[in-house]
Amino acid sequence: MQNTLTTFFIQVPPPFELLASEEAELKYKLLFNEKLQTTVVPGGFNIEVEYYKGVTLNHYLKIPNKILLVLKTFKCRDLPKLFNQISKFKWKHYIGDKTPKFIINTKQSRLINTSKIEKTLVESFKRSNQMFLSSKKEKEKTNDYQHFNLYIQIIDDNCTVSLDTSGERMSLRKERIQVGLAPIRENLAAALIYQTIKNLKGHYNFFDPMCGSGVFIIEVNNFFKPTTRDYAYKHFVINIEQPKLTRLKSNISFNLYGNDKSKEQLQICENNLKNCQIECLLSNEDILNIEKKDLKDCIIITNPPYGKRVNIEDSNFENKLVQKIKAVIDYKYFGLISLNRNKKNILKFKNGGIPLFFNYY
Ligand SMILES: C[S@@+](CC[C@H](N)C(=O)[O-])C[C@H]1O[C@@H](n2cnc3c(N)ncnc32)[C@H](O)[C@@H]1O
Repeated sequence: MQNTLTTFFIQVPPPFELLASEEAELKYKLLFNEKLQTTVVPGGFNIEVEYYKGVTLNHYLKIPNKILLVLKTFKCRDLPKLFNQISKFKWKHYIGDKTPKFIINTKQSRLINTSKIEKTLVESFKRSNQMFLSSKKEKEKTNDYQHFNLYIQIIDDNCTVSLDTSGERMSLRKERIQVGLAPIRENLAAALIYQTIKNLKGHYNFFDPMCGSGVFIIEVNNFFKPTTRDYAYKHFVINIEQPKLTRLKSNISFNLYGNDKSKEQLQICENNLKNCQIECLLSNEDILNIEKKDLKDCIIITNPPYGKRVNIEDSNFENKLVQKIKAVIDYKYFGLISLNRNKKNILKFKNGGIPLFFNYY
């Protein structure tokens, strides 16, 4: 497997595909001292790299959802062809004799009935396992793992079969021990952070004035630090040398500051930061009452309550918040998540199904 090139599809939440490909190019260069070629498509980007480099990216890329290993592509217009293609593949090299969870997506194809497709896939796996028996060792390696997923995409009668190397989605970092009030998904927070800092070098202050459980603070601190949780690829039968996980050398650093008016949220934040060994100065104030803060070159990113998942008592809260921040902090960038678009808006995205804007002031 070493030295031969393998195709991976890196799945990314829209509209962050291009941004995530830039993150991958930067980090790949820092990790392997090589240029990475990416091909951006709706929903992600493709790369062709050595297998161990592709799976190692699970630990370092913060914006994507999943890293899929593309195993097969073939024309497919009927179930017997699908059965034939899937059953002759030696799945035992990857997942022993386990049947994965199937994620099926079909468009503009003759094969359209997903329950019939799923039934065929289950039968194909049975057949493959009968033909290519797994050894005791292969079974042992894969037995206890619960997150093997196989993605089957059939578009215009072209079938692509991809094995999920991440397992649980990559935004689950398993670093926060407590969840706060309506947190933003970690990979979305990372995307908004990278969008803001990608052209910066040097030392900055980072401040989240409504930090909740601390997602932005943790994501800023850990953007160049590997995530060390478990991934599906570690349970594949094929062995690779486990990557040495070290923080990437970056040319940006931060002093971290967080604030929340809720004592309870702040305690959750403190516990999470302690668990991640992150140093950050926390304060417990109503942001509308804060006094001038001496934070030069400050980068502010925050996810305020906007009346969907967390209620707001004052309908003019956002406006007051912007005026207050402008008056008391000498900021370099101030990015605010909102239900409304402002003039400098550059990003529209969804968090938990809610359409949102990321506005700079
Ligand atoms: C949507 S949550 C932020 C979640 C956070 N980004 C996270 O990911 O965990 C909004 C936070 O703003 C805090 N908050 C609401 N009004 C505030 C105010 N006037 N001053 C400071 N914090 C406030 C709430 O206590 C809550 O923790």
